[in-house]
Amino acid sequence: MAELTQEQIQEALAPVRDPVLEQTLGQLRAVKKIEIDRSTVRVDIELPLYGHQGRDEITSGVQQAVAVLDAGYDVDVRYSVRVRAVGGPLGKGGIPGVKNAIAVASGKGGVGKSTVAVNLAVALAQDGAAVGLLDADVYGPSIPLMLGTNTKPMMKDNRIVPLEAFGIKLMSIGFLLPSDRALIWRGPLVAQLMNQFLNEVDWGTLDYLIVDLPPGTGDVQLTLVQKIQIAGAIIATTPQDVALADAVKGIKMFEEVKAPILGIVENMSYFICPSCGERHEIFSHGGGERTAERHDVPLLGTIPLDTAIRVSGDIGHPVVASDPDSASGRAFKMAARSAALRLATEAVKRPFRPSIQLNPKPPEEDENPPLSPFRRR
Ligand SMILES: Nc1ncnc2c1ncn2[C@@H]1O[C@H](COP(=O)(O)OP(=O)(O)O)[C@@H](O)[C@H]1O
Ligand SMILES: [Mg+2]
Repeated sequence: MAELTQEQIQEALAPVRDPVLEQTLGQLRAVKKIEIDRSTVRVDIELPLYGHQGRDEITSGVQQAVAVLDAGYDVDVRYSVRVRAVGGPLGKGGIPGVKNAIAVASGKGGVGKSTVAVNLAVALAQDGAAVGLLDADVYGPSIPLMLGTNTKPMMKDNRIVPLEAFGIKLMSIGFLLPSDRALIWRGPLVAQLMNQFLNEVDWGTLDYLIVDLPPGTGDVQLTLVQKIQIAGAIIATTPQDVALADAVKGIKMFEEVKAPILGIVENMSYFICPSCGERHEIFSHGGGERTAERHDVPLLGTIPLDTAIRVSGDIGHPVVASDPDSASGRAFKMAARSAALRLATEAVKRPFRPSIQLNPKPPEEDENPPLSPFRRR
């Protein structure tokens, strides 16, 4: 058996492909450690997202690469995950502790934006990510109800402690105001409230903060989008033309503020008849897909119209938690993974995105620099 060196192995592993990120381990700088112990080679690989579906393929790629050097070694591959921060388009602001804020937006109300936000958040947490959900819908904060938590949050050390449910942290603008006041909110007031919200909530460290924006593309939404340093936006829509025309407005709004669009989630996409099992496309077919293609954004997923989704929302138990293996549960899970993948792809594309740095210090080999000097990590 030949004596292998770490350098030899490192070099051999560099071209192994990650089939999910569609890049090599070398490009991703995914190999964190190589240990050689008599006849065993141990490789530690860091992935940039949870729920990564390509581990087996990477493992066999690594095993083959080592076998080409010397077939006598056992190869042991271990995985860890570190979600990287994409960084917002504005390069400033940022919510303390939050790596990636993801806005869920819609051109109009009632398309299931909150339902999508809740289920995506829970699905990401189920895969292992640290997730928060911020209900910023000043016109109709509904997320506490959808998660069955409607108690006022507590203060600790002058900071607001988010509630927790289904493995995610939760804050709602609804906690701060009586519901009958919600309608009178205007841009400047929202901005003021958001400042408090964004800086005073103790999120801890979050891989993702899902933000349920108010429906529409007006002044209030724009203010919020600019305030929150958004890593990516998800547009929720239904398949029919009217809703899609509104979705396009949503896409335009994010393009205007240069926030990357992670993709479209088409909700109420089809209906599986519970008695005959047939698939009905009640609100027309393929609208989300066409819109995604036309605007060159991915279609992250299609969610069925399903009584269980409505009921589970009403009783505060999101379908992705109550029935994860149902068609709806799986559809949300897939959409969540697609969104996380899009974000990870963005993050590895530009790991050292230029930002304001008052005291430029060379970034450590595999750490992202702080996105802003004001950002607590
Ligand atoms: N895919 C779906 N199937 C069945 N009902 C749904 C679906 N998506 C949302 N709903 C229901 O539609 C209503 C509106 O959804 P909601 O998420 O509150 O919309 P929005 O936040 O866009 O106003 C809610 O009662 C919700 O339970
Ligand atoms: Mg809503």
